[in-house]
Amino acid sequence: MGVYADQIFPRVMDWIMRAPRFRELRRQVLAPARGHVLEIGFGTGLNLPHYPRGVTWLTAVDPANFPNALVEKQTTAGSIPVKLVRLSAETLPFESGQFDWVVSTWTLCTIPDPVAALREVRRVLKPGGQFIFLEHGRSDDLKIATWQNRLNPLQRVIACGCNLNRSIDTLIKQAGLTITQMERFQMEGVPRVAGAMYRGIATPHRPILAESLSSGRHRPMAPGAPGAGPV
Ligand SMILES: C[S@@+](CC[C@H](N)C(=O)[O-])C[C@H]1O[C@@H](n2cnc3c(N)ncnc32)[C@H](O)[C@@H]1O
Repeated sequence: MGVYADQIFPRVMDWIMRAPRFRELRRQVLAPARGHVLEIGFGTGLNLPHYPRGVTWLTAVDPANFPNALVEKQTTAGSIPVKLVRLSAETLPFESGQFDWVVSTWTLCTIPDPVAALREVRRVLKPGGQFIFLEHGRSDDLKIATWQNRLNPLQRVIACGCNLNRSIDTLIKQAGLTITQMERFQMEGVPRVAGAMYRGIATPHRPILAESLSSGRHRPMAPGAPGAGPV
């Protein structure tokens, strides 16, 4: 990929994203995770110290060729066994229904085909499993969103493919996941174009009627109708 993407950017990213304001958000969002967890977009492993005790095994994927020294100091420091696989989340080499939780933090902005990756998340989660997300994306403030669109081409170059303007909840729903909790907030100490946050939990479960709708056997149900399920 080149010296910037392989050597300089990962170090800058690691330095910025280990700041206390990121640490606290990581700790909060990871708190419910349990059992066998899959993390997509592992980066330099900054989530590792924040997984709770109930996490017994971590499988992680990331296609980037980050310097070993940066990643290893995280993976060898913690008590959770970690298996890091160097590949993209759009095509996961895992059996369906094998993870208790899947985690994505500041990653859906960068994955080239986020809906494909989220479909894979849906596939590999156990039936009762849940997907934790903590992501920046498109702002609800129209002025900020306009600036996000303007700055996006530049951001993609300097931040190695990161997009400022993805509507994270829309992508999650497009992949067939059901959002059960979501919070929007502005991250402190981060420019507004990069700090419009989406934090929440989604599940692979879909209401039975919604499944049959996609097969075309039923008429569409009005939003908010009984049984329409959470959005
Ligand atoms: C801004 S970093 C965030 C890293 C980490 N999740 C964190 O919270 O510190 C975005 C990460 O997404 C990874 N990424 C890019 N394309 C990906 C893909 N197709 N599948 C999985 N991860 C990808 C990048 O290599 C990078 O590590």
